[in-house]
Amino acid sequence: MTAGHAASLPGDLAAVLDTAWQLLEAAAGDLKAPLRTPVVIGLADNGPDGRVMVLRECRVASSQLIFHTDLRSPKAKNLQRDPRVAIVGYDATRALQLRLHGRAHFQTDEAAVDAAWRATSPTARRNYATHLPPGARLESASDGQPESIDDAAARRSFARMVVDITHIDWLELAAAGHRRAQFVAAADGWTGSWCVP
Ligand SMILES: Cc1cc2nc3c(=O)[nH]c(=O)nc-3n(C[C@H](O)[C@H](O)[C@H](O)COP(=O)(O)O)c2cc1C
Repeated sequence: MTAGHAASLPGDLAAVLDTAWQLLEAAAGDLKAPLRTPVVIGLADNGPDGRVMVLRECRVASSQLIFHTDLRSPKAKNLQRDPRVAIVGYDATRALQLRLHGRAHFQTDEAAVDAAWRATSPTARRNYATHLPPGARLESASDGQPESIDDAAARRSFARMVVDITHIDWLELAAAGHRRAQFVAAADGWTGSWCVP
């Protein structure tokens, strides 16, 4: 599946799709970009459950978004059971909402995960070093981190979550008239259409 191959789309729809991917790619490298911290939604036992996550990487050629997370977390367990995921971001400077759908998997390629771990800051690594898993009950308020960090154990909890994006919904608000477009990934590229905002 290739996001770049939108040859079947009319020019302006193709440009919208390209812009969506460019914004996501730029956001992954820009600490201040609003689309860098979308809400990622999966299905938990009691229904939909969303949380903010940092977009770490956007692979335009393969239509993939990559996040880092703790394999022990409820979201990781739920997404391994049901990989369907919705991702919602809003860029207020552009009055642009992006709603994406896809399927998540947790990368098992040790070399890629090791490289991501090595590139992670010591502060961020500490998040994976808690003895108890994310969401575990505590007697009192605490960050849950031990006094000394077991780096190898923390590494085992660290995962790259790769989302294969299959649908994109673009909504741009404007005084002159809102515009909304939807795109669906197929084996030979993306198809798109305008729709009522
Ligand atoms: C700005 C911000 C960025 C966050 N980034 C991440 C992240 O990249 N990965 C992650 O697993 N959790 C991240 N979190 C924490 C999640 O929102 C969530 O609280 C945590 O992962 C537990 O989620 P779960 O109980 O659904 O598994 C972030 C929270 C905020 C507020």
